[in-house]
Amino acid sequence: MTDPTVILGIESSCDETSCALVADGRRVLANVVASQIDMHARFGGVVPEIASRAHVEAVNSVIERALAQAGVAPRSLAAVAVTNEPGLIGSLLVGLMAAKTLAWTWGLPLIGVNHVYAHAVAAALDGEPVEYPAVALICSGGHTALYRCEGPTRMTLLGTTIDDAAGEAFDKAAKILGLSYPGGPAIQKAAEHGDGARVPFPRSLLRGASLDFSFSGLKTALLYHVNGVPGARAARPRRQAGPARLRRKTQPHAGEGVERFTGQEIADVAASFQAAVVDTLRIKLRRAAELVSAKSIILGGGVAANAALRAAVTGLAEKLRIPLRLPKFAYCLDNAAMVAAMGYYHLQEGKVDTLELEANPTVRG
Ligand code: KG4
Ligand code: ZN
Repeated sequence: MTDPTVILGIESSCDETSCALVADGRRVLANVVASQIDMHARFGGVVPEIASRAHVEAVNSVIERALAQAGVAPRSLAAVAVTNEPGLIGSLLVGLMAAKTLAWTWGLPLIGVNHVYAHAVAAALDGEPVEYPAVALICSGGHTALYRCEGPTRMTLLGTTIDDAAGEAFDKAAKILGLSYPGGPAIQKAAEHGDGARVPFPRSLLRGASLDFSFSGLKTALLYHVNGVPGARAARPRRQAGPARLRRKTQPHAGEGVERFTGQEIADVAASFQAAVVDTLRIKLRRAAELVSAKSIILGGGVAANAALRAAVTGLAEKLRIPLRLPKFAYCLDNAAMVAAMGYYHLQEGKVDTLELEANPTVRG
């Protein structure tokens, strides 16, 4: 048996500092994550300066712990992979500098990884390989996008959000409802005992064959519902410049009317909001799966941790008779295991970078 190809991955694009060691692109030997959620919670979103400082403080110990947990000596590593795009520039730079230092010191190849694409290989971690062509729905705090995947590194964008990302919509909705940050888990919890059919929130951009998403109208409808504007429905989606994760600080104020709501009403509104997001994602995913004649469906990103979305997509895959690849809970949220895995696939194709590798904050197709 040949020795496994072990890659050390580093992730620091937003508010998680993570280091992982992954063998042959799928077997996770260690995945250490230092989350900054508590530091950003009181601001209701990620504060870039706080994030970069926290990465600097955490990165060395996260790397040391991952190496110790995996029990792998640096000389046994095949490469160092690092998220170099997209993300908060100050945060990306911390991980990139750490990765360059390790690659130079240990004489290893350096491999830059796209964070959004990496979410699409998370489903195979500690699992079976994916069958291609696949369709991938990646929904997180910064991104909501559908891809046709010919292989782990060959992604073609089919549709993306024209305004808010799905996770961003959850975060803003939670703020409007006076729930905690991050909003996704808070809305999911509040929705547990709610009636998802109670409030008929809009499902945007469903007409025609569009595979793009829009969630800002839904957020506005929620704000109007909470503040008691009668008959208010979705605002028309607006095009905005720049990646969604960089706009996360522009959050609406908590709905002033939420104090009037009983616990049951909040549960019903949360469940109705969640149902609107999940419906939209499921409908577009179905369109995309049919369009590309997908042999498998991949879900990824923080919102893939949502129980209602997982159930809806499971039902869809059964209906379409297409195998579904759901990432384990720990690999939905930002982590370095998916970065190491993507590094492995790049290495197999001979795609390695030099120490000149730059950080790129913006999203590309
Ligand atoms: O992938 P991720 O960790 O970071 C980015 O790449 O942005 O995703 C974080 C996002 C947050 O917006 C969070 O509210 C959302 O994922 N999220 C969820 C759940 N858990 C996390 N959204 C819905 N339901 C959840 N259970
Ligand atoms: Zn992410």
